[in-house]
Amino acid sequence: MNPAERNLRYYAALGLAAEASHLAQGYFGRRETLGTTMKGAQDWLTVADGAVEAFLRERLSQLFPGDTVIGEEGGGEASDAVWILDPIDGTANFAHGDRNWCISIGFLVDRRPEIGVVAAPALGELYAARRGGGATLNGAPIKVSGGADIARASIELGWSTRVAAERYIEVIGRTYAAGAAVKRSGSGTLGLCHVADGSSDAYAELHINAWDVAAGIVIAGEAGATINDFFAGTGMAKGNPILCCTPGLAEELRRITGIV
Ligand code: IPD
Ligand code: CA
Ligand code: CA
Repeated sequence: MNPAERNLRYYAALGLAAEASHLAQGYFGRRETLGTTMKGAQDWLTVADGAVEAFLRERLSQLFPGDTVIGEEGGGEASDAVWILDPIDGTANFAHGDRNWCISIGFLVDRRPEIGVVAAPALGELYAARRGGGATLNGAPIKVSGGADIARASIELGWSTRVAAERYIEVIGRTYAAGAAVKRSGSGTLGLCHVADGSSDAYAELHINAWDVAAGIVIAGEAGATINDFFAGTGMAKGNPILCCTPGLAEELRRITGIV
């Protein structure tokens, strides 16, 4: 894909994120319209998830008919030019009225993440990056914290019922034992963005899906984060562990989390 074609997709993603934000905010502001259901234990679904994904799919297929789309709610096929969407990341937060949720739009060429746009409209935040072009928050450049002392680190450990609670709790224990402060905010995508803007030193999760991280990997990578090779093996189709951190903590966190 040539630079002009990639730039076209970057600006399209920014425009679509703005429109999708408006759509999602409409639901978030009217809780009675959410139609909340459960896909599984602590796995939430609202009407907004389907509506935002349907909107993005329709617009992307009109704009770029040769590209494929994978979305959390509708599935899809990988290709050498694939959009990976999470219409609402942090759906449990969204359903509870917590503003820490976002819309995640990632684009990969030949399995390599190229474009990431993450809109968190309830927070007034837009993260964006193109590979090789740096990362921004609301248009201003961002970078990782640069910290190297685990005893001062603020580390987010993501959790889902896809991994046994014992394994998660074990990693929490090892992280605390190393002296770090541990948090969980309920959006893996924003967790990566917070490593990018330096407000977290690391994000780790033992299993996460491609739509949770496709955009955030570009944003955090462009902000200087060290990230494991998430798309190796079956990462695109089945997910993988993720470790994303400021470089000075990478070696220690690989050891603590077992994610390499
Ligand atoms: C979840 C969130 C959560 C992460 C889970 C994801 P959803 O996505 O990102 O923070 O820990 O792994 O499944 O269900 O809110 O889109
Ligand atoms: Ca998600
Ligand atoms: Ca989701």
